Amino acid sequence: MEKPGIFATMPVAQLQHDYGSSSLKRSLGPVALTSLGIGATIGTGIFVLTGTVAATHAGPAIVLSFIVAGLGCLFAGLCYAEFASLVPVTGSAYAYSYATLGEFIAWFVGWNLVLEYLFAAATVAVGWSRYFMALLDTFHVGFLPKALTASPFNTVGDTTHIAATGAWINLPAVLIALVMMCICYVGIRQSAWVNNIIVAIKVIIVLAVIAFGAPYVNPANWHPFVPPNTGTFGAFGWSGVLRASGIIFFAYVGFDAVSTTAQEARNPSRDMPIGILGGLAICTVLYILMATVLTGLLPYPQLNDAAPVAVALAAHPQLYWLRIWVIIGALAGLTSVILVQMLAQARIFLAMSNHGLLPQFLGSVHPRFRTPHIATLITGFTAAAASGLLPLGLLGELVSIGTLIAFIVVCIGVLVLRRTRPDLPRPFRVPAVWPVALAGLAICLLMVSFLPAGTWVRLVVWTALGVVIYFTYGYRHSRLRREA
Ligand code: ALA
Repeated sequence: MEKPGIFATMPVAQLQHDYGSSSLKRSLGPVALTSLGIGATIGTGIFVLTGTVAATHAGPAIVLSFIVAGLGCLFAGLCYAEFASLVPVTGSAYAYSYATLGEFIAWFVGWNLVLEYLFAAATVAVGWSRYFMALLDTFHVGFLPKALTASPFNTVGDTTHIAATGAWINLPAVLIALVMMCICYVGIRQSAWVNNIIVAIKVIIVLAVIAFGAPYVNPANWHPFVPPNTGTFGAFGWSGVLRASGIIFFAYVGFDAVSTTAQEARNPSRDMPIGILGGLAICTVLYILMATVLTGLLPYPQLNDAAPVAVALAAHPQLYWLRIWVIIGALAGLTSVILVQMLAQARIFLAMSNHGLLPQFLGSVHPRFRTPHIATLITGFTAAAASGLLPLGLLGELVSIGTLIAFIVVCIGVLVLRRTRPDLPRPFRVPAVWPVALAGLAICLLMVSFLPAGTWVRLVVWTALGVVIYFTYGYRHSRLRREA
């Protein structure tokens, strides 16, 4: 019999069988899943990027950028939900593309999901370290020397240039990454429980900023709503609004992570769509309200700060008391983002290893905790190293492109599977699938095309590395090929 080629697809029945024989613990219900989605999503995007991107790219029209990015996520999220209810396996977009577009594309998507989850965990750990220092500053505690709180490298001018900063390591970032790794190691139920508490804290604090901030909004700050372009592409005007939507897309990264825990859901057919779409809807509403209030509290040029929410509150003496709570909320928010991104990454390794595309030890499940423990350790140590050594900008830009590519493939995949396997029972069906999937595809492509050129260069390098690994390891060990 001829060996399957690189575009051979994994039968859906095989994926469904893998789901049935999984040894992961099934403990997550609809509330825990929605909470995981919010936990993975609200973080650096809302607490940092809203202000900086309004100040440099979009002005008050950042609200429109949030709507554009949110629409792209909504359409892609619907496609995710159809897949996640149909093949509730741990590999998320990677597994869906294996079933529809073939092994090589699946590898490409899986490899990009590694970029998304691993680097998002590292990026957010760096953001966490900044807020932690802000907290210490507030209480005038200064026991950590500067050399231990920053990355030893940073990008200069254009982001392809890297120079030494004189610092040694970003120690708080490394430590938070390692603590989160330990929580992921001991188990998903404990992880979900910790996540629920953190999500409650950060949502309450975002709501408090919106509710207490609203009476102090000065509508004059919203004029002009779309500030005129300065003459540079992407600096205000409509090109600025679109560039901003590409950048603040980072704020939405994470709602898709819910789909990687499908094998741990009690009733995935019903609860996966609830978790994915519920988490996304809540985050979108909070983002739009927060961006509206923030740009109303201060003229947008003044929001260009690493902690813009704190700055906006400090400008109104009656709101100063909220500042410390915002720092606590941001720390809590960022903590849960790291947790869920790591959780997701370990499960992508697990799925790829089960299919033979990565070495087998990455798929081993702990006998007592029933978690993918080796994959968790590798994810945790790599994220800790990256967060200790690399700067936020360089890490963050890789995350969005990896995610957008996964979204694009999922939008295409859902259409392909509707044509190739119309017979499959779909507990959740995307309504008006063609317009929805094509709109998701178009908006995600638009956002990708507005990302800076340096991001594309790094994507090519990352992909080349992935292709080498696929042909030297994955292709030869693939279960699909071995079983044939
Ligand atoms: N969406 C996540 C954040 O904004 C990655 O931090």
